[in-house]
Amino acid sequence: MPTKPTVLFTGGAGFIGMHVVPMLLERGYRVRLYDSMTYRGNRDQVESMLGDDVELVENDVRYGGSVQRAMKGCESVIHFATVSINKSVADPDESIDINMVGNHNVLAAAAEEGVRRLVYASSASVYGDPPSLPMAEDGPINPLTPYCIGKYAGELLCSFYERQKGLSWIALRFFNVYGPGQKTSAYYTSVINHFINRVRNGEAPIIDGMGDQSMDFIHVHDVAAAVAAAVDTERSNMAINVGTGIQTSVAELAALLIKAVGSDVEPIFNPRDVLVSRRAADIARAADVLGWTPTIAVQDGMYELVKESLAG
Ligand SMILES: NC(=O)c1ccc[n+]([C@@H]2O[C@H](COP(=O)([O-])OP(=O)(O)OC[C@H]3O[C@@H](n4cnc5c(N)ncnc54)[C@H](O)[C@@H]3O)[C@@H](O)[C@H]2O)c1
Repeated sequence: MPTKPTVLFTGGAGFIGMHVVPMLLERGYRVRLYDSMTYRGNRDQVESMLGDDVELVENDVRYGGSVQRAMKGCESVIHFATVSINKSVADPDESIDINMVGNHNVLAAAAEEGVRRLVYASSASVYGDPPSLPMAEDGPINPLTPYCIGKYAGELLCSFYERQKGLSWIALRFFNVYGPGQKTSAYYTSVINHFINRVRNGEAPIIDGMGDQSMDFIHVHDVAAAVAAAVDTERSNMAINVGTGIQTSVAELAALLIKAVGSDVEPIFNPRDVLVSRRAADIARAADVLGWTPTIAVQDGMYELVKESLAG
């Protein structure tokens, strides 16, 4: 029987990774998770998956030699290992180390091994605060924190190894990912948990300013499908947005969650100056290159989340 191709998956034990692994198995891959399990790695869930087709290398992407050894024999790579945006502002040293040195270790080893494809988790935050919507891949880039700078540098490094060693890569710029398994400490989307918890306790959500800052919430199941498609698609060497293309303001989110919980509280608006940022992805390239479009409407995804939270 021919052996299954192995995907090296750094940071695969985290929130999004745990949704991607079953899709890779369905597509006939073996998965070698490479995860330090220090930040948010989901140990119980990972252990329940371990077996012939899923293995765990518990190590840090900052150790280049270990990354090279884990890369041996891998057919493709998904690189997610990262330290989050909020930690990056509090501790730029660690962020630069993991998000720049770690990125380089993985990309260099992938190029050296001659893998068929590398899929890199980039972020919508590389755009900074966009001058206009929707945000298209070729629009202005303005990364504002060490995390975002590291994410964009990773894209440039992919491009370097493409020229140097023929690496075939896709950088997926994820927008605001939400859904089951999300950590309550998640940076942008923590507002969802915060609102749900308050409304459940009969308390009104508190909104800074007018609540007109917006995000493009994309369900983790749709994100995972985009990742799996990027591993397999024929075209490569570009950044691709992964969002819905629809912006939801914080005020709309509060109204939606209040309705989903079945409450009649009214949000409290806290009058103060806030920097109003808006986000909505241009997703034409994702449809064209990946044959991917989002399938879960924000309202349905949020309702499901509330249902789970009420049941749990
Ligand atoms: N969740 C979002 O909304 C979002 C948005 C944009 C981009 N992204 C990117 O998508 C990827 C996955 O995000 P997520 O939400 O699943 O993150 P997550 O924090 O849940 O998972 C990250 C994983 O990386 C591992 N890790 C951290 N540092 C490591 C290191 N030095 N060596 C090895 N493993 C390490 C952690 O243990 C964890 O399992 C990340 O690269 C993230 O930056 C996420």
